[in-house]
Amino acid sequence: MCGIVGFTSESMQAAPVLLQGLAKLEYRGYDSAGLAVRDGSQDPVVVRAKGRLQVLEEKTNGGLSLPGSCGIGHTRWATHGEPSERNAHPHISEDLNVIGVHNGIIENFSELKEKLQRHDYHFYSETDTEVAIKLVDYYYKKYKVGPIDALAKSMVRIRGSYALAVMFRDFPGEIYVARKDSPMIVGVSSAGTFVASDVPAILQYTRSVYYMENLEMARLTPEQVTFYDLNGDVVEKETTQIEWDAESAEKGGYEHFMMKEIHEQPKAIQDTMNSVLSAEGRIDLSATGLTDEIVRDVSEITIVACGSAWHVGMAAQYVFEDLTRIPVRVELASEFRYRKPILKPDGLVIVISQSGETADSLAALREAKKLGVRTLGVINVLGSSIAREADHVFYTLAGPEIAVATTKAYSAQLIAMDLLAMHFAHVRGLLDDDALAAMIAELQSLPSKVEQLIENKERIQWFASKFSNARDVFFIGRGLDYAICLEGSLKMKEISYIHSEAYAAGELKHGTISLIEDGVLVIGVMTQNELYEKTVSNLVEVRSRGGYLAGITSYGHYEAEDTVQFTVYVPKTDPHFYATLAVVPLQLLGYYLAVARGLDVDKPRNLAKSVTVE
Ligand code: AGP
Repeated sequence: MCGIVGFTSESMQAAPVLLQGLAKLEYRGYDSAGLAVRDGSQDPVVVRAKGRLQVLEEKTNGGLSLPGSCGIGHTRWATHGEPSERNAHPHISEDLNVIGVHNGIIENFSELKEKLQRHDYHFYSETDTEVAIKLVDYYYKKYKVGPIDALAKSMVRIRGSYALAVMFRDFPGEIYVARKDSPMIVGVSSAGTFVASDVPAILQYTRSVYYMENLEMARLTPEQVTFYDLNGDVVEKETTQIEWDAESAEKGGYEHFMMKEIHEQPKAIQDTMNSVLSAEGRIDLSATGLTDEIVRDVSEITIVACGSAWHVGMAAQYVFEDLTRIPVRVELASEFRYRKPILKPDGLVIVISQSGETADSLAALREAKKLGVRTLGVINVLGSSIAREADHVFYTLAGPEIAVATTKAYSAQLIAMDLLAMHFAHVRGLLDDDALAAMIAELQSLPSKVEQLIENKERIQWFASKFSNARDVFFIGRGLDYAICLEGSLKMKEISYIHSEAYAAGELKHGTISLIEDGVLVIGVMTQNELYEKTVSNLVEVRSRGGYLAGITSYGHYEAEDTVQFTVYVPKTDPHFYATLAVVPLQLLGYYLAVARGLDVDKPRNLAKSVTVE
């Protein structure tokens, strides 16, 4: 998620306000930043810097070297184009007629870029934002309209999500805003008017804000704000008084980043899916460089990762093998890197990593490359080490993940692996057009199904309160359900510190069932219909030994309540996609257990967000 701040005032200097505001948005994660400040009707001055905000502060002497009372600022979380000064915002039209910053993802930016190039526009960056800014410039000049109309015409053409803050040379002292899907707020105070991606950026100046709705625009002058709809008609809006303190404002009003990120999962899934689905609804992996020829020739797949990313690999193994019949092996990176792996030269090694900096996963990638095997990274941080060194990269678009316990990045990785498996099966002729289209349609229903599961979070909270003193918890499942158990168990362990184990349900009787005694919580995951009865039998074995049973299964399996004492139902979906749904109650369970035990949910003891050492 990028961060946007804009401010215009009669007399107050803008640059220091913008820098302070951007500092309050640092929690959103970023790799570069920039400002554009205008002094009266003089041309705006634009300063950009790669790296920490401090670099920008030093370049602008804390903002003092940028006189002027109107400006926009930006912290960039790269999605299109490596982190660099050239790609940093604000982006400008060549004659400085239009200058702007953007938060979001423009899905049809390539098509729009080609259109503009046909009209003699040139591009200096790799970003979708530069395309958006020049599109606004194009409409402003072509139709000789005002800023609001130019923005409206651009909004009609742009497909994707955006929050735009724009300055026009012909309108000094004014800032124009457009919003679709990416959040944007407007603040008003006696000092002037503000626009920002999130409340923390302006909380020290005002608590009186407007939340912009989708497809709304705004015009900010030092004295007032006017809102418009897509037709250019004025829209009357009510202000909201922000009651949050600054810290909770960073979490969007949630108590913890982890809960905020659980709620961001539908968008992370949607954005990741949209990044490779063409307008015709086909899977387009051309950005990864994985040609159909490469896909056809892959003889085996080795998935290498750590922690939750490894759990994604375990789930993907079932999906990939079922759809593509390619042998898939899943390896812990810390083991793979030292085991002198035996890999086929026409194999593919897939390294899954949110941070792209995990030392063991990076070492495993290098080991695979040393052996001459093709590598693909499934990575969330653009330009990270693994992303740069892998032969191919599939970027997940979960945005920056702050909580140590991964949720939305895990979900985005699952979707990426599902899409890869579906694409491989289609290219290799095992999935025809109709079957692929049906799976894609089902995949596109997942965000709303995840939202539905999150809405039932209070029921999980109640259940967690009953087991906050548990000492040992077991998760059991078969097939894909076993992979889901792995993630559920780790979520519980890493943030509630309750010991738990994930077990292949059929394996329990080979020893571990001796640990089951009265009151031990055993959670059965039973989403795979053809394995459902088997897992229920295992749960009956556990119950006869005193275990307390909870079950996660799909709607329709109401007979589960004859066996388990607490049931969570997930919406029906394609059997390959249940990990995306069943993991949500397990994430919430781990979260509420940690909260019930008064623990630091976002920063659990002994853990780091990215394990960059062995
Ligand atoms: C999961 O909640 C943990 N934060 C941890 O297991 C994490 O998944 C693992 O360290 C891998 O990190 P990566 O995805 O950044 O490589």
